[in-house]
Amino acid sequence: MDFLPEPHPTVRQLLAFYLEAGVDCALADEAVDRLAEPDAVAAAPVQREIAPPRAIRELPTAAPSVPRSETAPVPEAAIASAREAARTAPTLEALRGLLENFEGCALKHTATRLVFADGNPQARIMFVGEAPGRDEDIEGLPFVGRSGKLLDRMIAAIGLDRSKAYIANVIPWRPPGNRTPTPQETQICLPFIQRQIELVNPDVLVTLGNPSTQTLLSTRDGIMKTRGRWFDYDTGTRTIRAIATFHPAYLLRSPSYKRMSWQDLRAIAKAMETGSSQ
Ligand code: URA
Repeated sequence: MDFLPEPHPTVRQLLAFYLEAGVDCALADEAVDRLAEPDAVAAAPVQREIAPPRAIRELPTAAPSVPRSETAPVPEAAIASAREAARTAPTLEALRGLLENFEGCALKHTATRLVFADGNPQARIMFVGEAPGRDEDIEGLPFVGRSGKLLDRMIAAIGLDRSKAYIANVIPWRPPGNRTPTPQETQICLPFIQRQIELVNPDVLVTLGNPSTQTLLSTRDGIMKTRGRWFDYDTGTRTIRAIATFHPAYLLRSPSYKRMSWQDLRAIAKAMETGSSQ
């Protein structure tokens, strides 16, 4: 039996393929052929200034990563300067300003804008996700896309809305193509979210999903083990109650876990009512 050669994909099909794979922004003007001989790739000129063009028509130049040494100080120096900067922020506005000017995290150069927080800084409850996605990067607010809509419904299930809750992420810049933040990026951003939690000073902290839970609650256990469990979280000035639950994006992919998420929300509502997590 004869096989016909595969037709070449059209540009439209290629773009659809990239988009499906999560590649929706270009990191540099020149494409880097990572399948070429290693020497040739190493010799390729590196862009020092990374302009973040976001138009999809520029997708074919998308490169999967930015050489860190070209865009940010080594992680140890960046972590130390993040700690120093975050420590000195007396208010949330000052913290936001420090983040706007912070040059230690390369994600800032590929994101459109900082996604600092939404909701009420006086709220008794604070939700922390992983990192902004495409919609959040466009709007500059956390959890405004599809998973944000579900988070709103989760918050409504405990009788609250965004005017009575505070929402932020461990990482305040969108990782390109929604890739998972690297451990270094997480460590660099950690002092800022820790200070943000300390300044909001909620009674209850809710970590959404594995990365946020493992990073903030210092556990290596997976979300199936940690969800619904109460932890003590030391803000630096007092100990508050913290609980892990599923990330709304995960619930969108696996709706059968909404049942367990509902149990977690009931526990959160009870703790908010009684002031006790027992
Ligand atoms: N997922 C997150 O973790 N945070 C957001 O802000 C949006 C999606």
